[in-house]
Amino acid sequence: MSRLNLLEETRFEKIPLSVFENQQAASITIARKFSDLILRKQANGELVVLGLATGASPILIYQELVRLHKEEGLSFKNVVSFNLDEYFPMKPNSEQSYVAFMKHHLFDHIDILPEHIHIPDGTLKVEDVAAYCLEYERKINDFGGLDFQLLGIGRTGHIGFNEPGSAPNSGTRIVTLNDLTRRDASKDFGGKENVPTKAITMGVGTIFKAREIVIVAWNEKKAGIVKAAVEGEISSEVPATYLQLSNNVEFIVDKEAASLLTRFDKPWLVRDVVWDAQITKKAVIWLAKHLNKPILKLTEDDYNNNGMSQLATENGPVYNINIHIFNQLQHAITGWPGGKPGASDAQRPERALPEKKRSIIFSPHPDDDVISMGGTFIRLADQGHDVHVAYQTSGNTAVWDDDVLRYVEFSIDFLSASGQPVDYLKDQYKRIREFFQTKKPNQVDLKEIQTIKGLIRKEEAVAGARFAGTKDENIHFLNLPFYDKFKTKGLDSYEEDILITMDLLKKVKPHQVFAAGDFADPHGTHKVCFDIILEALNRLKSTENWTSDCWLWLYRGAWHEFELHEIQMAVPLSPNEVIRKRHAIFKHQSQKDLPVFPGDDAREFWVRAEERTKETANAYNQLGLAEYEAIEAFVRYIY
Ligand code: F6R
Repeated sequence: MSRLNLLEETRFEKIPLSVFENQQAASITIARKFSDLILRKQANGELVVLGLATGASPILIYQELVRLHKEEGLSFKNVVSFNLDEYFPMKPNSEQSYVAFMKHHLFDHIDILPEHIHIPDGTLKVEDVAAYCLEYERKINDFGGLDFQLLGIGRTGHIGFNEPGSAPNSGTRIVTLNDLTRRDASKDFGGKENVPTKAITMGVGTIFKAREIVIVAWNEKKAGIVKAAVEGEISSEVPATYLQLSNNVEFIVDKEAASLLTRFDKPWLVRDVVWDAQITKKAVIWLAKHLNKPILKLTEDDYNNNGMSQLATENGPVYNINIHIFNQLQHAITGWPGGKPGASDAQRPERALPEKKRSIIFSPHPDDDVISMGGTFIRLADQGHDVHVAYQTSGNTAVWDDDVLRYVEFSIDFLSASGQPVDYLKDQYKRIREFFQTKKPNQVDLKEIQTIKGLIRKEEAVAGARFAGTKDENIHFLNLPFYDKFKTKGLDSYEEDILITMDLLKKVKPHQVFAAGDFADPHGTHKVCFDIILEALNRLKSTENWTSDCWLWLYRGAWHEFELHEIQMAVPLSPNEVIRKRHAIFKHQSQKDLPVFPGDDAREFWVRAEERTKETANAYNQLGLAEYEAIEAFVRYIY
């Protein structure tokens, strides 16, 4: 049964979808849906049966429901709830359990009756699970079935914990979690190895029986899977695509999560557009990639047969458009990231003057500089620029405990070998070892352990930056206080961080600032670090003249890259520079082999960095530009 879609603009979308400006606005609207339903049922003296989800996505919805209860008197006495899932095995009082999650975010703050709450039981014996699951289904039916089901979507495309491979008619059952799902959960558990491998989940069939389903997704990280779920073919590989078969479902997303849907990502395919420079560049690059042809070989027919006849008619002949875009791409490529002395800079990304620039590379964590732009760092230093590097946070959460023991052991042995007193260190060592023996997953380290972990990363950063070619006195550790406050949840402002950053900028008076421009995770360290730099620069604009000649360049972290149409400076690396960059990354030994926080990518950082820059180089080459070993990409940010 496929949905009749009368709107041209959404013709690729197979699930009704609403886009909100941001997660807050969307969450308030969804909470309102809940409360309307609850009140309607209350008026008839009926119970309402809600299917609830956990995870990051529903948090603001629950927050708004709590507010409605506290401030507007919304009662939950007629609510019966069934949660989608629970890890298995899992004790309800464990911090990571979905029982604890639901209490913390909702149940402890409203008047729902305890006997109305149902969450799959993670404490059962394996042999009892099957019967329990049947009983869970029966209970839902006994209450008359789910009136409303709230869902999030995992990056595997799971709904509930129905991972790829789940059947459309599956019921409540025990399942094995997908590796990506476990990696996504690893932060909550203090490492993937602590994440349970199994869960009990309602099935796709259970979810389908709900009379109304709302599925939500926020931020850019979900954009790919939202597109697959909404525009892709129905397939067990992306279980959320099964929702295309339901007539009672709505997808609710924010702008970022919607960004890869055709109507936003390639609007020319679904409506007439205003062909400004940016959209023309994006569309022509897309056409070349789509047809696997170099830009200069694209023909009138290629444009007409692929939804770009409007551009061909308005701005053709197409060969002129091709040349124009080809030249733009060509001009972004430069081996002179600090500008080329003595050469005209009319068509170059950076200014020729001053010949020797002062550059600051801001690195949110102690290794982002070399991982993300190590080749450009090396080039800037080789070309004689005064390169400073500023490490914004200590990164001290991402060091293994046994590395701490190893460094303290080294210090004790070194002092002993030099005939120096070691009692203090030995005491510390004993305390640290005892702490580690009883340390729980995710427990915050003792202060002195945090210090040692920070120092380990500091020495590695010095080694990396020195290897890249910068002078010791140009290596700065800002230790921005927000990073530690994050952990203790006592953060109220970034004022101190901004002032520290302003101080460094005033001292260096840079011509170029390089900053990590990762906006995908709005609460992540990189985004906060960027906002601090931006605020510092903006404040300095009124008093410091040098700011008018200081350009801000963004680079991206290890996991994704700017799209080709966005890139304004593309710095090619020679094979030798790729190796030098690799060795600079190797200095970050604590992050090698198996980092504490690998993120959602199982590859080592240096491999990610190399594959990413190689992919960028190949992408340029496929468009018909020269073939390079690797390319690092930058976008200029006007502040
Ligand atoms: C949670 C659940 C999962 C999550 C999904 C998205 O009960 O069943 O399907 O909804 O993994 O998780 P977040 O919202 O954390 O991105």
